[in-house]
Amino acid sequence: MKLHYPFLFSGLGLAVFLAIAAGNPGPDLPDNPVELGELLFKDPILSGDSTVSCASCHKPEFAFADNTAKSMGIGMAHTFRNTPSIVYMTKRTQFFWDGRAPSLEAQAAGPISNPDEMGSSVGLAVSRLQKSDFYRRAFSAVYDEAPDSVLMLQAISDFERSLEAYDSPYDRFLAGDDKAMSESAIRGMILFYRGSTCGIDACHSGPDFSQDSIVSIGVDNPEDLGLFRLTHSKADMGKFKTPSLRNVAVTGPYMHDGSVKTLREVVEFYNDFEKLRKSTAHERVKFPRPSPLTDAEIDDIVEFLKALTDNKYLSQI
Ligand code: HEC
Repeated sequence: MKLHYPFLFSGLGLAVFLAIAAGNPGPDLPDNPVELGELLFKDPILSGDSTVSCASCHKPEFAFADNTAKSMGIGMAHTFRNTPSIVYMTKRTQFFWDGRAPSLEAQAAGPISNPDEMGSSVGLAVSRLQKSDFYRRAFSAVYDEAPDSVLMLQAISDFERSLEAYDSPYDRFLAGDDKAMSESAIRGMILFYRGSTCGIDACHSGPDFSQDSIVSIGVDNPEDLGLFRLTHSKADMGKFKTPSLRNVAVTGPYMHDGSVKTLREVVEFYNDFEKLRKSTAHERVKFPRPSPLTDAEIDDIVEFLKALTDNKYLSQI
């Protein structure tokens, strides 16, 4: 037995020696802004104590959302809102649940300096990159420039803009593959569009199932009044950005506060119009009264929503 330890140590020592001899090259240098942005997105170097990255909350395996109601940021603080998915951002026109950022670049500065998320500042993050031999070489390889705030935010945003994929069962069905969606999902799709309650001209329309509108969604949470926090206009109470429904099956729990656990419960929530009517948020809810759905119809709609999951993201689970 005794002999094994010296062998083990000599093996490790050799590996360390070889790594040092090779100059400890670290990750490969990125070839383009998207690759650089991915490295930055996943690197805790941007947070105050180097423990939290964008990917700590926007987890690739959940379509870059999280599977908890509120995520954990720096110092085990919890976020104020549920972490949304950040795929299909290319066509979005406003960012955050209340749309307060006009571009991805402007958005990315927010979490870096938010004391409950990454607890740093754009200035501090950039100075860390400037001190890093690897990032100096990486920015030089991609932009022929030293790291600065504009390039850092641009690279992160370019990575986010690359997260687009249109190969879900629904896309394949639309492209003519009749077998791509189950019969239940097809029934669900017809119900989804029926009377424009959810899709077509309603909130979840267009190829990404989002109109980018900021509307009252009926969720009664006095702690978070949505757009009202910015405008202080009564008309904006309870208004939040309509998220895309693509990959929605893997991004629960749902709503801006993560208060609804499953996809079925979300559909049930909007189906129970009497309960919705009793909520104080009801006064502000403008969407049309849906015809009540049966249990089987709810199952079908949920199956349709599951058919919006792209294999590219499923395969990362
Ligand atoms: C501690 C968790 C956490 C970290 C870290 C984090 N985010 Fe977020 N992200 C959130 C939450 C929560 C929201 C919603 C906040 C709100 O609307 O007020 C959000 C919102 C967003 C949005 C808006 C999506 C939309 O549909 O409008 C984008 C884009 C985004 N984050 C990108 C990033 C980037 C880039 C980083 C790193 C620089 C990052 N996030 C770091 C939790 C996090």
